[in-house]
Amino acid sequence: MKYRKLGKTNEKLSAIGLGTMGMNHAYGEPDDKESLATLNLAIDLGINFWDTADIYAKGENEKLVSEVLVPNRDKIFIATKFGFRWDDNKVNSFDASPAYIKTAVEQSQRRLRVDYIDLYYAHRVDPLIPIEETVGAMAELVKEGKVKYLGLSEASAASIKKAHAVHPIAALQSEYSLLTREVEAEILPLTRELGISFIPFSPLARGLVTNTLDISTLAGNDFRRTLPRYQEKYAENNKKLAEGFAAIAGSKNVTSAQIALAWVLNQGEHIIPIPGTKKTKYLKENAAAVDVELTADDLQTIEELLKKYPDTGARYSEHHAKMTNN
Ligand SMILES: NC(=O)c1ccc[n+]([C@@H]2O[C@H](COP(=O)([O-])OP(=O)(O)OC[C@H]3O[C@@H](n4cnc5c(N)ncnc54)[C@H](OP(=O)(O)O)[C@@H]3O)[C@@H](O)[C@H]2O)c1
Repeated sequence: MKYRKLGKTNEKLSAIGLGTMGMNHAYGEPDDKESLATLNLAIDLGINFWDTADIYAKGENEKLVSEVLVPNRDKIFIATKFGFRWDDNKVNSFDASPAYIKTAVEQSQRRLRVDYIDLYYAHRVDPLIPIEETVGAMAELVKEGKVKYLGLSEASAASIKKAHAVHPIAALQSEYSLLTREVEAEILPLTRELGISFIPFSPLARGLVTNTLDISTLAGNDFRRTLPRYQEKYAENNKKLAEGFAAIAGSKNVTSAQIALAWVLNQGEHIIPIPGTKKTKYLKENAAAVDVELTADDLQTIEELLKKYPDTGARYSEHHAKMTNN
């Protein structure tokens, strides 16, 4: 494994992290046995940067992760997130108020069974609460020793600047992949300038660029079924793209997923993707992407392919999009 530093800290994070969301949330049927094997393998592969959130499977994802985290606490840098509520009368509402943060952190600590959380993210910016208040409350958690570093997810450039002025923001986690490149305009340069790590989530476009995902076979409750990009309307365009990435991968004797991860890593030293998988087979493949080199010709071929098939569909529906870039 290769390592990259978290923001301006001395923390060494694996250049390929592990997103645990899909292990029991959003993407089809869980398989706890395989997921636990995957978490254990991550330790063997030196993948020390794990990403979960309190909302994933309503707390059950943090509990699953704790099974392997607790006996290996010193080897893992654990990131979790707060803000989406699922308690009484609050289902699907977002809350980044200081009062809620105080209870949310303790609940995450209890489920993860840890004394402190390495990186604590506001899962979104709450449009009803000034970001300074949210980050002020998060900074209290650092003082209390409950949390080591602070992060934001899907925040706008203006919010990042305001937040960073209250307390150093170590990481910004937002969607970034071959198919989702909005952050290139403003967010990537800003995070680089401020010394904030940029953590791409869904770096495989939720599986779409791997040339292994057949959207027609997704389970009825798979979250991707609700997103524009995974609708039949865009299937032909996205299949052509996936086949194009597979051809590039084949010519280099690697896989499409490895091309997608190498491409994201290539966009800046401050970038640390967290591909999600519940499978040991995919984890090994993803870990090996750190050694895949893309030449200038490869990068040009990728750009030409993306230009040829631009009709990828939006990453989020209107409801979810409204919660980003606040
Ligand atoms: N901050 C946020 O709002 C936010 C939003 C979404 C996600 N996240 C975080 O980001 C992490 C990663 O994002 P994601 O899971 O949505 O999407 P992703 O990493 O782009 O893709 C995950 C999908 O790709 C498949 N996959 C993984 N490696 C593969 C490989 N080598 N070959 C073929 N298929 C492969 C997985 O299959 P299997 O499941 O079968 O292994 C899964 O279906 C999540 O786990 C979560 O921690 C954060």
